[in-house]
Amino acid sequence: MKLLIDRSPLGAFGALLLAGVALSQETQPLMGEPVRGLTPQQLALFEEGRAAFTAPVLPSEGAGPVFNELTCAGCHNVPAIGGFGGRRVTRFGIAATSTSPFQALEGLGGTLLQDQSFTIACRETVPAQATHTALRGTPILFGSGLIEAISDAALVDRANNQPSGLVGRVHTTVPLETPSGARRIGRFGWKGGIATVDSFSIDAALNEMGLTSQFLPQENAPNGDLALLAQCDTVADPEDMPDAAGFTRTDRFTHFQRYLAAPAQTPRSGMTGETIFEAVGCAECHVGRYVTGQVAEDALSGQEIQPYADFLLHDLGALGDGIVEGEATETEMMTRPLWGLAQRPSFLHDGRATGGTFEQNVAAAVAEHGGTATPAAQAFAALSAAEQDLVYRFLGSLGRAEFDWDTNNTIDEFDWFFIYPLMTGPEPATPITPDDDGAIGDVDQDGDFDLVEFGKLQRAFSGQ
Ligand code: HEC
Ligand code: HEC
Repeated sequence: MKLLIDRSPLGAFGALLLAGVALSQETQPLMGEPVRGLTPQQLALFEEGRAAFTAPVLPSEGAGPVFNELTCAGCHNVPAIGGFGGRRVTRFGIAATSTSPFQALEGLGGTLLQDQSFTIACRETVPAQATHTALRGTPILFGSGLIEAISDAALVDRANNQPSGLVGRVHTTVPLETPSGARRIGRFGWKGGIATVDSFSIDAALNEMGLTSQFLPQENAPNGDLALLAQCDTVADPEDMPDAAGFTRTDRFTHFQRYLAAPAQTPRSGMTGETIFEAVGCAECHVGRYVTGQVAEDALSGQEIQPYADFLLHDLGALGDGIVEGEATETEMMTRPLWGLAQRPSFLHDGRATGGTFEQNVAAAVAEHGGTATPAAQAFAALSAAEQDLVYRFLGSLGRAEFDWDTNNTIDEFDWFFIYPLMTGPEPATPITPDDDGAIGDVDQDGDFDLVEFGKLQRAFSGQ
């Protein structure tokens, strides 16, 4: 049956909705939305957490003396609060030579530069002693709580069962919030040096904003200069104190990040490009599927997720950023999750794969894969243009919500214009496959884009 649908505003179609139709499969959340299934109390913490994530820390509340931005959202904001951003930070140190190892220059404020201060005198600069600097871009935080909920055992298992030729290893670290507790497996940051969302909140509060806490009570002295610190730091430590509800700012940053939904992937599975992605060896590091372990929140426990990462450190040769961090050497980087990829204008730790189309940027990112990723990069380069195109289409599905034709994290009239001709009605003569354009509307992946899905489109509609 071909549906006769006019191109007028969506409101006119309310009557078409079949009352009481069971929602066999829900559409996925847009970026910036909370995970589905949170309790009302968790949802409230998410909303309050987003406010904290967005509110500037004032100097009188402890911001500075050296910092990079005054809010988390100052960097993590595209295409929604909690996202990536164009801001990059600088790391520095003395590169290893044949006679001496890498030096982090901690006494001079290394390895992370804080490039802002309230007074010029206290602003940090890269010290003259540094022989090496590296830029690091701001990653998306969507799905952080789900990544955190992958059990350590699953990652160890992955490390112990790698395809031949790969020697990725876990990056272990003691979470900042449990200083006398066991080591955990890192999974956040470009080098995987942080294991929990809470640790990142605590770490970023100090190192990006200058907010000390009970777990990191010591300020960063400007380029290590304690006299300058005394001059510019006026608030007693620890600065991050509980509010009336008993939560510190870092607690609240954690609530927001932990409850952020994972980026959508549409279609959710079955694209030919994914098969090719697996065949050339990308999936040996960018591992697709996990089931999360048991954590405090039901909404995060036992969930099937598709981050496309093994969270292990791999030696990528020249693509390494030259910084030693925790257990990670200069050339080791953690396999980054690829979920959300389609929304991003630049790839790799320093954002070097940028400036072109999505396809060109992906190709540039793959070409930069060195060291143990070289065979996969070469296998990708040897694919036919048509096969590469299928891989790009698959990667373009990572970060695209159902109905979001132009992949801009909004379902609006522009999407509607392109999508409505793709409607098939139930059981079309030629079923929609995951490789077809119509897959963007086939929410339950049963081969059609029917009225039930049209109803979902109406509910997902966020534009004019
Ligand atoms: C100046 C920009 C900037 C600010 C401000 C900032 N971040 Fe980040 N964020 C980054 C960069 C850059 C990275 C990559 C860090 C690395 O690997 O060295 C990052 C990484 C992260 C990660 C790891 C994500 C992942 O998947 O690996 C988390 C979590 C995070 N930030 C949380 C926060 C929180 C919470 C705040 C506020 C307290 C904050 N960030 C403030 C730039 C920033
Ligand atoms: C040996 C492990 C390994 C293999 C194999 C591998 N990658 Fe990666 N990939 C990584 C690591 C590690 C990074 C992070 C690089 C960095 O820090 O700049 C990465 C980053 C990326 C990025 C950028 C992610 C971001 O957040 O900016 C893309 C895109 C990507 N890989 C695609 C691929 C594709 C496509 C293939 C197959 C041709 C592939 N990778 C094979 C380990 C691997």
